[in-house]
Amino acid sequence: MSHRYPDSSVLYRNLRRDFPLAVRGEGCWLYDETGKAYLDAVGGAFVASLGHGNREVAAAIGEQAGRLAYVNGTQFTSEPAEALAAILTQRAPGDLSHAYFLGSGSEAVEAALKLARQYWVESGVPSKHKVLSLTPGYHGNTMLALAASGRPRYQTYFKDWLVSVPRVPAPYPYRCACRGAGTCPSCTGDALEDALLAEGPETVAAFIAEPVGGSSTGATVPKHSYWARVREICDRHDVLWIADEVLCGAGRTGTWSALEPYGAVPDLMTMGKGITGGYVPLSALLAPKRIVDVLAKGSGALLHAQTFSHHPVLCAAGLAAIRYLDAHDLVARCATMGTELHRKLEALREHPLVGDVRGRGLLAGIEFVRDRDTRAPFPRSAKFAERFTEAAQEAGLIVWPNTGHADGTDGDLVMLAPPFIVTETELDETVSRLLGVLSHFATND
Ligand SMILES: Cc1ncc(COP(=O)(O)O)c(C=O)c1O
Repeated sequence: MSHRYPDSSVLYRNLRRDFPLAVRGEGCWLYDETGKAYLDAVGGAFVASLGHGNREVAAAIGEQAGRLAYVNGTQFTSEPAEALAAILTQRAPGDLSHAYFLGSGSEAVEAALKLARQYWVESGVPSKHKVLSLTPGYHGNTMLALAASGRPRYQTYFKDWLVSVPRVPAPYPYRCACRGAGTCPSCTGDALEDALLAEGPETVAAFIAEPVGGSSTGATVPKHSYWARVREICDRHDVLWIADEVLCGAGRTGTWSALEPYGAVPDLMTMGKGITGGYVPLSALLAPKRIVDVLAKGSGALLHAQTFSHHPVLCAAGLAAIRYLDAHDLVARCATMGTELHRKLEALREHPLVGDVRGRGLLAGIEFVRDRDTRAPFPRSAKFAERFTEAAQEAGLIVWPNTGHADGTDGDLVMLAPPFIVTETELDETVSRLLGVLSHFATND
């Protein structure tokens, strides 16, 4: 049977392609029903940080499901939720002392934005309702998270439903005015202050941003002073800073929190994707007591309700994943192998279609351009990133495409985020397959 719309009953993520049927995963490799092997160089979608087929995490999920599968978060707490909250808050930056569990990253972002708004209302400052975000930037696909996302294409049919979120140009050295010198307002952080002053700080509740860019800016790493500057601006104007670590957190950049090397502490943080290594969906909103206390002394609860929040089985998976990471020192391994990955990726820079290669830890972005001197992107009609990703899958390599980052429409890049257990040989294989796929594309493509 073909795995293609409309032959199957599945409403697929793409209605115009055939899907291979994945049947098994082991380490960095996926296998389809024909036995074809795929090197999963992006953990599906920055998710499978432990690799596929981890028996310990699978067993922990089975054990918890057999003992206590579901209780509602309004009636009970559970051992895994208590233990996971303790671990996540203990390794979070600064005073982020409490964790609220949800399923997807979008849900955690929605909850974070609602908490920010509720905090200001209950603090007696109801005028603070606006959210500011970076562009390009991505925070999810539910309506509030989508509104906060500086990715116009995803908003195409839904603009009438979205609240207005003023945009701040993201630090993006490859494409910003200073071309990497670190001196333009987007790179220094001054652009945030300009936007805040234009909106009126008394109307702004929160600023949300990814500490290290996800696919939106293709693993762009802001300069060292950037987040301290953001902290200082937000403090001065009484605006909550929400660090969205859904993609870049949980060890992905070689430190548990992507913010660690910056030493800056956000007011709220979201996590997701890699927390369970993909064995179940789990996300978290982390908040400090100073913010939660306002609700505790006021209305008594965050006005946000989802049936599956604080789910014991999902939390047990998170706990098992973190214990596995710790037992095998995998975040440190992510840093070491990350250095190796970026060293090996240097080979791509020689190629005329590769404009930039960047990232930190086991997170990398490869930006393609039509002209390296002018940094001109391919026109969107060329669908370069999509064709590259399909050709890579055909060649047994899974990467993640992104488009539109150059100007909202044009721009093509692919991302890598291999499992932390990746070997040097698998990194070599990744680079060699990338070069092999690239050899089929030319500047006039
Ligand atoms: C930074 C960031 N925030 C939020 C999300 C939304 O997460 P989810 O797709 O799990 O809803 C994503 C997803 O890619 C993300 O990269």
